[in-house]
Amino acid sequence: MKIILDKAFAKASGFISPDVFKTYKNPAEEMNKALHNKSGRGSDFLGWVNLPNEIDNAFLNNIEETAKTIRAKKIDVYVVIGIGGSYLGAKAVIDALSDSFSHLKGDKPAILFAGHNIGEDYIAELRDLLKTKEWAICVISKSGTTTEPALAFRILKQDLEDRYGKAEAVSRICAVTDAKKGALKTLANEEGYKTYIIPDDVGGRYSVLTPVGLIAIAIAGFDIRALVKGAQDMAKATAAEVAFEKNPACQYAAARHILYSEGKKIEILVNYQPKLHFMSEWWKQLYGESEGKNGKGIFPAAVDFSTDLHSMGQYIQEGERILFETVISVANPNREILITEDKANLDKLNFLAGKRVDYVNKMAELGTQIAHVDGDVPNIRIEIDKLDEYNLGQLIYFFEKACGISGYLINVNPFDQPGVEAYKKNMFALLGKPGFETETAMIKGRIVK
Ligand code: PA5
Repeated sequence: MKIILDKAFAKASGFISPDVFKTYKNPAEEMNKALHNKSGRGSDFLGWVNLPNEIDNAFLNNIEETAKTIRAKKIDVYVVIGIGGSYLGAKAVIDALSDSFSHLKGDKPAILFAGHNIGEDYIAELRDLLKTKEWAICVISKSGTTTEPALAFRILKQDLEDRYGKAEAVSRICAVTDAKKGALKTLANEEGYKTYIIPDDVGGRYSVLTPVGLIAIAIAGFDIRALVKGAQDMAKATAAEVAFEKNPACQYAAARHILYSEGKKIEILVNYQPKLHFMSEWWKQLYGESEGKNGKGIFPAAVDFSTDLHSMGQYIQEGERILFETVISVANPNREILITEDKANLDKLNFLAGKRVDYVNKMAELGTQIAHVDGDVPNIRIEIDKLDEYNLGQLIYFFEKACGISGYLINVNPFDQPGVEAYKKNMFALLGKPGFETETAMIKGRIVK
């Protein structure tokens, strides 16, 4: 199974001329090589490039063992604490693979997330829920110092200890963090938590195939081996020696760069399967944090169709012409529903009798693509066979590889995120964090003015 990258709708309307597309062969291949031979910017953070092939059986066994031990405690809820790259990958994969109503159907354990916001109601309501459940925690932070997860962990760790006693609480906590530094590493050592390491050379948003993503995915009951196999196969399909003409990551990077050069400054990732909502959130972080710097970068947005055709559809069809869409199309849903004949036919839907619901969805997809292209919104289409671990593994690595190439094409470092620090500095200054005295005085002065 491969990802089909279809630019027909981008080309047909003259958005991407085949001649211009061909000129990207050398640059895209060069950028891909730079990722592999570590000759480009941010070369200290390229551990993700060969990561799928470096994952061995012993590592997977270890994660599966941990998952088995935690699941053996008959937990109802597994709370995964993390933010950004320490949250979105696991959330995206688990949502894409889970029954849409699994929590209500009583599937166990439910994977719930914390530390990705500072909403007091959210934390309070989660604590209420946990009082009536069996539960355990995975706390994830590469730096080990991020405020949101640290705060959530402080509160929930205390609740866990109050509920189960110190020793049992320790056996219910797993920490994923840096090998040496950070407050979480110190805490994990002191308390004796089972700890997994995030490799130094893998940044948060490229870390879903490390313990950051794999532990929660395994505890949710999904096949991490198939996920990794999908990523391995996509690593082969997008390797440095695979020519532009056959390399989907090079082609996607080239297509979006051409559209960006033509003034299409916003890319909307489109899905027609609501389970992919968080895959789009993961993708937004990957591309937004990797490319949005030095006054450059495509703004990554996302919609869930057909839901959002009844809201954002109007803007996309007729608003400012600065958009292009990348559609993730899932060829085969995992379930089948046939539309039945109705004698009265008061809803006038008998013309669809005998057809699958997915047939209607696919016609919505095709009709929308044609309409949006007619409205000057170029469309790229990425087709995957179905929503399973293997295909998601492919999709994840495909987007990561294309993101690295894309960042190099606009000449930014796709592996840092200096802009994220600005809000933190102000927040710490406003909170009066020790060490920020000068910033506190300055920011308070600005507020008075
Ligand atoms: O991609 C990134 O590096 C960021 O989004 C981080 O993952 C996020 O800020 C969380 O950082 P940490 O894992 O250090 O708590």
